[in-house]
Amino acid sequence: FCQTSVVPEVPKRFRNLFIIHLIYNNSFCYSCIWEESHSTPVPRCIYPEQHGYIVTGEVTETWNAELEVELERINTPKIYAGEIFNRLLLTVQYQTDHRVRIKIQPKDVPRYEVPQEALDISDDFRTTEDRLYDVSIIKGPPRFAVVVKRRSDSTVVFSTDVPGLTFTDQFLQITTRLPSSNLYGFGEHNHRRFQHDMNWKTWSIFAGGGLPIEPINVYGVQPTYMNLENDGKATMVLLKNSNAMDVVLQPDPYPAVTYRVIGGILDFYIFMGPTPEEAVQQYIQAIGKPMMPPYWAQGYHLCRWGYLNITDVHNVMSRNRESGIPYEGQWVDIEYMYKLYDYTYDKKGWVDLPKLIEDLHNHHQKFIVIIVKKAKINSPGYDMYDDGVRQDIFIKNSSNKVLIGKSWPGISAFPDFTNPKTENWWYKWMSYLYHDENIKFDALWIDLNEPKNFVNGSIDGCIKNRWNNPPYIPNIVGSQYGSLNFKTICMDSQQHWGRHYDVHSLYGHSEAIQTYNALLKLHPQKRPWAITRSNFVGTGKYASKWMGDNQSKWSNLHWSIASIMEFSMFGFSLNGVDICGFQGDAEYEMCIRWHQLGAFYPFARNHNGRKRQILYRHQDPAAWDQRFIDIVKPVLMTRYRLLPYLYTLMFKAHQYGDMVMKALLFEFPTDKQTWSLDKQFLLGPALLISPVLQQNQTKVEAYFPQSRWYDYMTGEEIVPAAQFHNLYTPLHKFNLHVRGGYIIPVQRPDTTTYTSRKNSMDLLIALDEHNVANGELFLDDGEGLSEVVTQSFSVLIFQQTVSLRLKPRVHNYEEAKNLKISTIEIYGLNKLPQKVTINGRELDDNYIRQSGQV
Ligand code: NOJ
Repeated sequence: FCQTSVVPEVPKRFRNLFIIHLIYNNSFCYSCIWEESHSTPVPRCIYPEQHGYIVTGEVTETWNAELEVELERINTPKIYAGEIFNRLLLTVQYQTDHRVRIKIQPKDVPRYEVPQEALDISDDFRTTEDRLYDVSIIKGPPRFAVVVKRRSDSTVVFSTDVPGLTFTDQFLQITTRLPSSNLYGFGEHNHRRFQHDMNWKTWSIFAGGGLPIEPINVYGVQPTYMNLENDGKATMVLLKNSNAMDVVLQPDPYPAVTYRVIGGILDFYIFMGPTPEEAVQQYIQAIGKPMMPPYWAQGYHLCRWGYLNITDVHNVMSRNRESGIPYEGQWVDIEYMYKLYDYTYDKKGWVDLPKLIEDLHNHHQKFIVIIVKKAKINSPGYDMYDDGVRQDIFIKNSSNKVLIGKSWPGISAFPDFTNPKTENWWYKWMSYLYHDENIKFDALWIDLNEPKNFVNGSIDGCIKNRWNNPPYIPNIVGSQYGSLNFKTICMDSQQHWGRHYDVHSLYGHSEAIQTYNALLKLHPQKRPWAITRSNFVGTGKYASKWMGDNQSKWSNLHWSIASIMEFSMFGFSLNGVDICGFQGDAEYEMCIRWHQLGAFYPFARNHNGRKRQILYRHQDPAAWDQRFIDIVKPVLMTRYRLLPYLYTLMFKAHQYGDMVMKALLFEFPTDKQTWSLDKQFLLGPALLISPVLQQNQTKVEAYFPQSRWYDYMTGEEIVPAAQFHNLYTPLHKFNLHVRGGYIIPVQRPDTTTYTSRKNSMDLLIALDEHNVANGELFLDDGEGLSEVVTQSFSVLIFQQTVSLRLKPRVHNYEEAKNLKISTIEIYGLNKLPQKVTINGRELDDNYIRQSGQV
């Protein structure tokens, strides 16, 4: 009976903390504001129609095509979360033809904003007549709204025309309407579904170091979603804000997202697509395209928390080498460190570590170490802490003293990676490990950078104040204790970029930036590679991402697909989860199936954990039995065979912001069947993976969108398309399909990328319905920096028609000129070609043969 809109439920503690007593002059409707429902997930919480702000004065257009409007608070309840801002400034910037920025901030009051050093979205604006959107401003009363429409079809893609806009110092709330309820993104969470459940789900966003179990907030912060409209068009929307927040998804009375943020400003960037692929590309191009990994990073890696000493690692190395599986990198966890101090190694149990590394390098394998961003205090003979104090690079508490928390080595300080001075200190110690200690690592693994602390706040706790104990706390891990400090540092501590309260979720991001720069100083000619746990918008430009401490459970095979697909949308190209799981003992069949899935993750590392003194069972392929090796080896070999294709995808991600591993909807946006698929995925546009995700399962129900599809192994075509097929998949089989219309460059595999890359190349040509296929191959030396920066690389584009014309397009990487292709396999020809000519010369029949469907 009220003229109202439904908004999501507010946690009880919010009601307890604030006086929400609304006395409005006319009706009961207006007081109906925080009403919770106990019987259903649908809240009875109703906003009064007028709650919000209205436009005062005229809309002014500034010289650089910005719209500016002043807003004034009307009829809102007095919500006591610090100062309430009565006057706001709305700015709309038409940044490019496909990108618009909408910024709402208090008028004439400076506020914290995500610093430009952290995220620099170019402000070199230019729009043309082809702008994809129009923006209109509704002045109110009853309330102001900003509305963005897609020009081509007038779809409202973003609208704040919902009551409830609130802007106080520590509580900002805005609801935005969505064009459809097909919503993807927001991170970081480890969860099952790729397409979000809109039924009043709350996702809290704040960098946290807890165990990644749905629905808790974990390591990274990605306040970005993609919305897919019912005709297959899409937008991507970023809320550029690094404060803790709740994001509530609502289905009724229209699909909408409510943000409840505890600081900063409301700063939205809307990317217009119109295809989902374009929306993501525009987003990634704006926030920073993913770094180009070295070629070898795409290999298969072994790691374990629980190698007790060097003999343990040696055993793993020799048994896996003997097994003949592809095996690229050996990683070591914290046990290698001297007393768990960063940038040291233990000269007792690990005295021969330099030799072990040499041995790896002699076998063309790589060595990667973990580093945990802390400096142990009171550590005679180890100067890292004192050096940091001298250089004044640690985070300070509110009394301006170095904040002391706890990490692996005991009481430790936290480097402030937002301080430019820290980079040199970080580099100095990195270089100490590499040069002085002779630990010739090839890449770094940066961990616990949420930042995780083993005590709450600091060893002395935290003072009670509005930063450590804000009036509204999103539903994050530890919020039940009434503070934000759970297993991290005090929010009132000081960093170069600002108060930890505001910049907490930028810790891992800033560490990734400085680690990238320090690695570059260490090897000015080499592509830096680090992998990080925590992340923010744009971290993919500096580091790769793994998803932390997943569980050795069947459910986590499935969940890994949504996580990786999300992180592809967030601008990370080389990402993956721990194959066979981190927590708990892996199980034989599950670990096999996980390899058959993980062999197609962009980043493929088998890593497992320990629980204090309990070591989980070894789960490297050779730790099981011969049968295990026999089953897993072919799929790992398949990965290695496909690496030229994968590397080309990495390059395209780096160059254009493309996604490497992605959901099917990106290639088939108008096919509704694809919208909710999260048990299958694509690598680039052309490879479809349909893994087994359950125990004792030998059939996979896999969807094949409209296209020609071929079994990778046999070349057999799957008909008809645009429907589900039951694929028989006994334990030794995995499902990989190639899409017609594509040429996949492949290379005879070997046990390392170094040796594989010496082999000749083959082309796998999958014809589409017109008997046409295209493909690309990116080639460079695989690790040099100049190749990527100066672009002296080679992209070979093959174009294939019935007349089998191969046409290399670009040749400026010397080795590309010597490229040898030994075999061309064609899928989809219904009869053997009569004749084949190469550069006008006819091939003799011996060179042409048919094998099954190939
Ligand atoms: C937490 C990381 O997520 C995990 O991968 C690592 O093994 C442990 N820390 C120990 O370093």
